[in-house]
Amino acid sequence: MSPNRLLQPLQVSTMALHHRIGMAPLTRFRSTDDHVPTPLNVEYYAQRASGCYMACQIFAMGRAAVKEVAEREGIQITAPSALRASDDPQYGDPVAMTKKQIGMTVQAFADAARNARDAGFDAVEIHVGNGYLLDQFLQDVSNQRDDEYGGSIENRSRLIVEVTRAVVDVIGADRTGIRLSPWSTFQGMCMADPIPQFTDIIRKVDALGLAYMSLIESRISGSEQVSEKNTNSLEFAYKLWKRPLLVAGGYNAETAQKLVNEQYPDHNIIVLFGRHYVSTPDLPFRVKQSLSPNPYNRSTFYIQKSPQGYTDYPFSHEYLQSVQA
Ligand SMILES: Cc1cc2nc3c(=O)[nH]c(=O)nc-3n(C[C@H](O)[C@H](O)[C@H](O)COP(=O)(O)O)c2cc1C
Repeated sequence: MSPNRLLQPLQVSTMALHHRIGMAPLTRFRSTDDHVPTPLNVEYYAQRASGCYMACQIFAMGRAAVKEVAEREGIQITAPSALRASDDPQYGDPVAMTKKQIGMTVQAFADAARNARDAGFDAVEIHVGNGYLLDQFLQDVSNQRDDEYGGSIENRSRLIVEVTRAVVDVIGADRTGIRLSPWSTFQGMCMADPIPQFTDIIRKVDALGLAYMSLIESRISGSEQVSEKNTNSLEFAYKLWKRPLLVAGGYNAETAQKLVNEQYPDHNIIVLFGRHYVSTPDLPFRVKQSLSPNPYNRSTFYIQKSPQGYTDYPFSHEYLQSVQA
């Protein structure tokens, strides 16, 4: 039997990974009201870090901002165009951004990248997925601008390229990654044919020499499974990107192994787990030992500041024994 590539080492720019199992970016609302991390956050990540590297994902909400929070904090909701994410009352009516605000956004991403580096993160991931601000600029369903930031494939890619260049200038391409969700319908997204637009942006960020690209499978919308009959392939992106690739969306140990061993034996893929990593602090150990992950409890994903559903998921007995030995 050929070795399981999921458990083989992989070099991602300067990062020497021991295996190809990664933790997906997961918003958990456990910091303070002023967005400051606490010892609880340290405990959560320490539980899940078995000799590892950590990227900080940076993103702006755009029209996906929660209306109530924006009102409470006196923030105007801005987006590429004055188009709501959906009829869901949690979203507000955005105002189209001025050129000055777009310039400030580029600067804000560069500043955030610098802060992440200074805080000790190994890499920075620019979030261009799941219907947040940069994804809104990329896709025509949310971008109907008639200036140089909209109206054509090239123009819709422009802000993402400017942001990526600015981040690369600050921290270096070898510490920069990007996340895309070409097929996601979450938060009112998905172009009629996303392939030409995403081909353009993948080619452009490839030319900048980023450390990795991270993709989300179409079987996931945000953090929810969608019907298998509505799924589409990421094949076009695999053909364009030959450097390390992170892939997430509904994977378990078997399907992850199949992806890296059988479907893409010539690609360097890290399979990301989201919900299973929420519930299972010793996930790589369990994959290696063929042990099942803990079941996750969706109702505790976002309980603000609470250790419940955050740091109280158990390690396996086998893992505890192995660290005592
Ligand atoms: C609680 C929760 C929070 C999430 N937060 C983010 C986020 O901040 N950024 C992001 O890119 N994806 C986020 N996601 C999506 C995950 O990164 C991942 O793509 C998705 O859960 C699919 O992977 P899975 O099937 O292994 O859970 C979140 C998912 C969950 C369940």
